Amino acid sequence: AAENGIDAWLRYAALPCDVRKSASVPARIVALNGTQTSPVYTAGQELHKGIQGILHKDLPVTNTSVNGSSITIGTVNAFASTGHVLPELDLTGDGFWLSIKNDSVQIAGQNERGALYGTFQYLSMLAQGNFTEVTYESNPSAPIRWVNQWDNMDDTGTHGSIERGYAGPSIFFAEGLIVEDLTRVSQYARLMASIGLNGIIVNNVNANVNLLNSTNMAGLGRIADAMRPWGVRMGISLNFDSPRTLGKLTTADPLDQGVIEWWDDIATKLHGHVPDFAGVLVKANSESQPGPLTYNRTLADGANLFARAIKPHGDAIVMFRAFVYDNTINETNWKADRANAAVDFFRDLDGKFDDNVIVQIKYGPIDFQVREPVSPLFAHLEQTGTVIELQVTQEYLGQQCHLVYLPPLWKTILNFDMKVDGQPSLVRDIVSGERFNQKLAGYAAVVNVGTDKSWLGSHLAMSNFYAYGRLAWNPTSDDVAILEDWTRLTFGSDRTIIDTITKMSMESWPAHENYTGNLGIQSLTDITGPHYGPKPQSQDGNGWGQWTRADAKSIGMDRTVWNGTGYSGQYPPEVASMFENIESTPDDLLLWFHHVPYTQQLKSGKTVIQHFYDAHYDGAAVAQTFPEQWKAVKGLVDAERYDEVAFRLEYQAGHALVWRDAINDFYFNMSSIKDEQGRVGNH
Ligand code: GCU
Repeated sequence: AAENGIDAWLRYAALPCDVRKSASVPARIVALNGTQTSPVYTAGQELHKGIQGILHKDLPVTNTSVNGSSITIGTVNAFASTGHVLPELDLTGDGFWLSIKNDSVQIAGQNERGALYGTFQYLSMLAQGNFTEVTYESNPSAPIRWVNQWDNMDDTGTHGSIERGYAGPSIFFAEGLIVEDLTRVSQYARLMASIGLNGIIVNNVNANVNLLNSTNMAGLGRIADAMRPWGVRMGISLNFDSPRTLGKLTTADPLDQGVIEWWDDIATKLHGHVPDFAGVLVKANSESQPGPLTYNRTLADGANLFARAIKPHGDAIVMFRAFVYDNTINETNWKADRANAAVDFFRDLDGKFDDNVIVQIKYGPIDFQVREPVSPLFAHLEQTGTVIELQVTQEYLGQQCHLVYLPPLWKTILNFDMKVDGQPSLVRDIVSGERFNQKLAGYAAVVNVGTDKSWLGSHLAMSNFYAYGRLAWNPTSDDVAILEDWTRLTFGSDRTIIDTITKMSMESWPAHENYTGNLGIQSLTDITGPHYGPKPQSQDGNGWGQWTRADAKSIGMDRTVWNGTGYSGQYPPEVASMFENIESTPDDLLLWFHHVPYTQQLKSGKTVIQHFYDAHYDGAAVAQTFPEQWKAVKGLVDAERYDEVAFRLEYQAGHALVWRDAINDFYFNMSSIKDEQGRVGNH
C-alpha cells in the first residue's frame, strides 16, 4: 500500500473499481535498450509499479520490441534503431514526445531522462483517472532545473542538521559522513524526476570542507549512483577557503598556482568518483564567508578558478551565487542599502565569466521575503547565464508550520517584465536563456527535505515542491491547475478535497503577506534569530540591512535615485521610473521603495497605518478559517494525514493572531495613531 507521506504525489493509489474495470491499457511495457542503471530502465519499472497500484494490472516488462499492444519507452534514437517510425519531432534538452492510443502508447525522449519524464507524465494521467488519447511534445523551458539542499556535514556527534530545514535531520549526512543507507536519497531522486528536476546540490552553501576528504568523496560517488537511475545529477557546494583549511596551503587566492593545482586535483578526484558530476555551487564573500575579494581578486576570478578546474572533466558547471553582500552596513547612512549589493558587485563582471559559469540569483534583492521586487541583476547579465533561486523551504514564510502556497509569489516574479533595452524581457524568458540567448540558464530551489516521512514536515507544503518542478519545466503553467493535479495525486480526486485545498492554498500567500508584513515592508520576523514569528523590532538597528526605517512619524526605505539609496535606478529606465515615483509604485511595494508618513494615502484611499491594521486583521481572519475549511475533508482523507494537517492549520490560525497583534501593537506604539475601528491596543 502507498505509504502516507514518503510517496508524496507518487502514491499510485488504486482508482475506483468501476473506473479500473473499464480502463484499458496496452498489454505490456517495452523499455527499449534500458540497461539496469539507465532512466529508461527505471521508467519501465516505475510504470509497472504504477499500473499495478492504479489499475491492479501486472504488465510484463521487456527491453526489446515485440509485435502487438504495448507501451514503448525509449530515446528517439532507440525508437529509430528498432524500426519504429516517429513523426517529425522538435525536441530539445530533456524533452519528450508522448502518444497515447488505446492499444499503443509511445514515449520517446530526446534523451533517456526525457523518456523517464514522459513516463511520469503518462503515469500522472493514469493516476488521475485520465485516459484520453493524446499526442504531444513537451520541452523544458530551461536546461537547469535543480534542487539545493542546505544539509550540513556536521562534525562527529551530531546528525546531519539542515540549515533552514524543518523536517528533521539530513537524508544524506550523519556524523560528518555520508549515510550508509541511501534508500531515502533514491526516493528523493524519484520525486525529483517525476517533476522534471535534473540536478541537485547536496550540501549547505555554507560548506563544510570535510566533504572533500577521501572517505566523503567516495560517499559522494554512492549518492550519485543512487540518483543516477532517476536522471538526477549530483553536485556540491564548495568552501572557498578549502585549500587553506583542508589543504593546509597558506592562501586560497584564486590566482595562486598552488591553489589552482589544489582545486585541479580535487576536481580530478571528484570526477573519478562521480563521472557525470553536475557542478559546484559557490557562496563567496557573503555573510562573512571567505572569497576572492579577500585576496583582492574579482568575483569572476573566483568563479573561473572552479570553472577551469572542472572544465576538463565533462560538462559540469559552476553556479556562482549573486548573494554577495556585507552584513555589517550602517543604518545611519541614508544611502546604505543591502539591496544594491548584487548589481554593484556583478554589473561590471558581465562577459568576464568562463562559459561554464552561471550566476545564481535569488528572486529578490534581499532574502526570500514574502514580497520583494525582482532582483534587478536579471537585467544586467546579458553575456552570462543566470539561474533564479527560489525557496521551497519556507524560511521566512512560516517554516512549514503555516500553509503558504508559493507559486503565485513565484509567478509574480517570473512574469515581471524588466523591459531591458525597451524590449519585452520577462524574467521567465531571461532564466530560460531565451532573452539573452544563453545556452545555460534555469532554476534552482532551496528545498531542504529531511528524514521526516512527509519530507518537508508538512503534507501540504509538498505542493510547493511539486509546483516548483512543474513551473521550472513550464513557467506559464497555471498555478491552480498544478495544485489540482498535485491534490488528485496526493489525496485523491474527490471534488471536495480539490476545492478545499485549492481555496485554502490560493488564499494563503495573500493572507500570510497581510499578517506578516505588507506594503513591501518585508517579512517582519526575527531576522537576527530563527526567522520565525513576529519581531518587527529586529529589522532595524543592526548591520543586516533588512531595514524598515520606522520611527514615530514615518516608515519605509527610500530607495529612489533622487533622494534615497539609488536602488530604483538599477532597473532598466521604464521600470526604474515606475518605482522612482510614489504615484506609480504599486501599493504592495510602496514601503520597499519609499519612506513615507504613516498618514500617506494609498491608491486604495486608506492611510498606510490603517492599511497595516486592517490587513493584519484580514490576513489573520483568513487563517482562522483554515481549520474549519479542512474539516470538510474529514473522512475523505486518511485519518493520519487528516490529523497531521489539521494540527498545523490549527496552530497557524493561532499564530496568525499572535502575528496580527504583535505587529499592530508595535506600530501603534511607535506611531500613536489610533485604529479607526478601535481594535488595536485594546486587548
Ligand atoms: C539566508 C539564510 C541563511 C543562508 C543564506 C544564503 O540568509 O538565512 O541561512 O545561509 O540565506 O542563502 O546563503
